Amino acid sequence: MKTDHYVLPKLSQIPADVIAICDYERLAKEYMPHGIYEYIAGGAGDDITLNRNRAAFDAIGMNKRVLRKFTKGTTEITLSSDRFNWPMLIAPLAYQSLLHPEGELATAQAANAVNMGMMSSTLSTVRLEEIAAKQQTPKWFQLYMQPDPEHTLDLVRRAENAGYTAIVVTVDAPVSGLRNRQQRAGFSLPPSVMAANLVNYPTSKTQSLSPGQSVLLNGLMADAPDWDDIQWLRENTRLPVWIKGISHPQDAILAAESGCAGIVVSNHGGRTLDGLAASIDLLPPIRNAVGDDFSILLDSGIRRGTDIFKAIALGANGVLIGRPVLNGLAVAGALGVAHSLTLLQQELELAMALTGCETIDDITLDCIY
Ligand code: FNR
Ligand code: LAC
Repeated sequence: MKTDHYVLPKLSQIPADVIAICDYERLAKEYMPHGIYEYIAGGAGDDITLNRNRAAFDAIGMNKRVLRKFTKGTTEITLSSDRFNWPMLIAPLAYQSLLHPEGELATAQAANAVNMGMMSSTLSTVRLEEIAAKQQTPKWFQLYMQPDPEHTLDLVRRAENAGYTAIVVTVDAPVSGLRNRQQRAGFSLPPSVMAANLVNYPTSKTQSLSPGQSVLLNGLMADAPDWDDIQWLRENTRLPVWIKGISHPQDAILAAESGCAGIVVSNHGGRTLDGLAASIDLLPPIRNAVGDDFSILLDSGIRRGTDIFKAIALGANGVLIGRPVLNGLAVAGALGVAHSLTLLQQELELAMALTGCETIDDITLDCIY
């Protein structure tokens, strides 16, 4: 097991006063060097969207029914033919060996322990094949389309061959957000932390710009994927294609029309454009636009089982868990991730019990005040 100076020692037992996700957030600061903490905890710009994600969840009131008979209680859901024991998956989260020597393998171990699906990031520090070999729960692959389509196709083939059952294309970060907190902290990736999936794909395409052209608008954005590329991807894989990072009802409709299996409503945890609306506030109009039958996952700001409950009540089929996974990993490795996720599972069950919802399908708009 390699250890690097930036990976701090872990707890081997969870202290008795760590009983909710917020307790891991408190500890995470001590278990990460400052620069890494700012990279993970921070949003873009002034953290307006980051904070809005939380404030919006807190502002939602729930309602409950009492005295209902429980005979078939379950938290199971089905998405793209995969059966999930819980209506939540581990979000795609880049560069996990920043936090733990085993990186994504520790997270996969936790996914197994708590019976939860996981999306592996294109930017994992362990190769997607190794993660797939470790993970026994449904595995989906998050794709960042590469500048060279051959590299994108190679990633997709590798994911298919390794047993991933869906491709999730992230579309809301064609260029990096303005991460002021990580900039202030002087964070950059240590040389030993690399995107293991991409080491054999040299950067080949360079856009040549005329004088006066913008590197961002004429260079990077000209290379960024568009709806035609989604179509191309669909035609080149047998796996269901999901799109992550949808905010606008019209884009949700385009995703459905282009044959995608589902979308993830997300503002990337406030890490792209600061000032975007809270993703939970964007959900109801998006659900309205696509109707009841199109699959929608939601992330950004989920910190309590009641947040999962609220997202489902407002139209999500399930949610993704982001930063809480990384905080658990930094504090106590696979044990910390598994414990964090167990807390969310227990809180969701409790919310279901106390609102009179036996199944995920019972969690409807009627549960929102
Ligand atoms: C991310 N996210 C992300 N998304 C993605 O599609 N591919 C990736 O590689 C990453 N990497 C990544 C790293 C870190 C450090 C963070 C915090 C986030 C976004 C992630 O999947 C998810 O959308 C957000 O984390 C949700 O917000 P919360 O709940 O973490 O606040
Ligand atoms: C992030 C990228 C990797 O949010 O998606 O850091």
